Amino acid sequence: MSETLFKKAMEARKASYSPYSEYKVGASLKLSNGKVFSGCNIENASYGGTVCAERVAIWSALSQHPGTKIDEIVVVTDSKKAWPPCGFCRQVIAEFAHEETKVHTANLKGIQSSFLFSELLPNSFNPSFLKKSGQK
Ligand code: THU
Repeated sequence: MSETLFKKAMEARKASYSPYSEYKVGASLKLSNGKVFSGCNIENASYGGTVCAERVAIWSALSQHPGTKIDEIVVVTDSKKAWPPCGFCRQVIAEFAHEETKVHTANLKGIQSSFLFSELLPNSFNPSFLKKSGQK
């Protein structure tokens, strides 16, 4: 599955809108219901309005499949050392992660590293701490 996700992330990366950083990023994920979604980074002249590839993929997925969790996610950049998700994206992943959620980092050659999400953001602040956790 991670190889399929890698290919989807590479494909999604082609649509990257990144005139400011000139870093094209692609992401692809599998939901716990088996559906696969992808996204790319979309930058903004305000800079702060930029959205990372991971969050574009996550919001696309969750807007169509509310109540699902993320099983695995691949991020691909053109970099010798593959990029892990930024802190902002880790917090967003925490909202939809489960104990076995995996994160794979990749460059154009393929997947370089694989982590359990809990390794990337241990002791995350997540819906389980809130009364209105959205877990109806
Ligand atoms: N970016 C991502 O898409 N994902 C990450 O995890 C890190 C950063 C994007 C944001 C911006 O468009 C560019 O990469 C440089 O930071």
